[in-house]
Amino acid sequence: MKTPMDLGPNRTGVDMSPIDSRRSIDGARDGVLAPSTSTAAIDAVRRTWTAEAEPIGTMPPPASVKGVVVTAAELLKGNRPTVFLDLLGERLAFERTGTRLYEVVMVKLEEGRTRDADVAREDLERIRDQELRHFGLLASAMEQLGADPTAVTPSADVMAVATQGLLAVSSDPRVTLEQALKAVLIAELADNDGWLMLSDIAARLGHDEMAADFRLALVDEQDHLARVRSWLTGAIDAHAGLTPQPRPSGPETRAPAV
Ligand SMILES: [Fe+2]
Ligand SMILES: [Fe+2]
Repeated sequence: MKTPMDLGPNRTGVDMSPIDSRRSIDGARDGVLAPSTSTAAIDAVRRTWTAEAEPIGTMPPPASVKGVVVTAAELLKGNRPTVFLDLLGERLAFERTGTRLYEVVMVKLEEGRTRDADVAREDLERIRDQELRHFGLLASAMEQLGADPTAVTPSADVMAVATQGLLAVSSDPRVTLEQALKAVLIAELADNDGWLMLSDIAARLGHDEMAADFRLALVDEQDHLARVRSWLTGAIDAHAGLTPQPRPSGPETRAPAV
């Protein structure tokens, strides 16, 4: 099977057609001088839309009696409960995407869309199960606060759009396991910061049990990040014909707040 590192009919660079590329460069120069291609017009449109746009979404009102009680208690303490609930919803959306990412990566491993990545199926399965467990943890945290975990919070919506590219890359049949791992690496980096932030805020809001659970999730995420990094760097070393370098076993992640 051909690999992306084989030489092929890639004609995207300007050196492939010097005459056309010269015309293209001339055209770009001419275009810059034309008033119609000035960025002022598009900037003005962006400014108008940005000034007038409604928020991307709003937080759902508490649908249960418990939710009303919890919200009232938090407001009395001077906290804005919606901020924490929005963060929980955001992580929930992200963990759902994480679970799906590992599902598609497993298919690539099974179908041999890898040459050099030293990845074990059991590791992928374990990480997938942990992502799913994190999803459940967040759903029950939202329920404990009287919120509906099926509601898409504004940040969940934003995160779902932000991660669309990660899923699109990983589920593309042409993408190799190594290429998909690059998308997974982006997800795991964000996962680490996400859980760090969430455990910190949970602790400061006095949700001590949740904070403890979230710190355990962060430990899982640190392990995911370390593994994905080592699979990816190992595969790149092997592709490039380099002797694998010994690497530190742990990721460079800040320690969770205690
Ligand atoms: Fe996760
Ligand atoms: Fe993860």
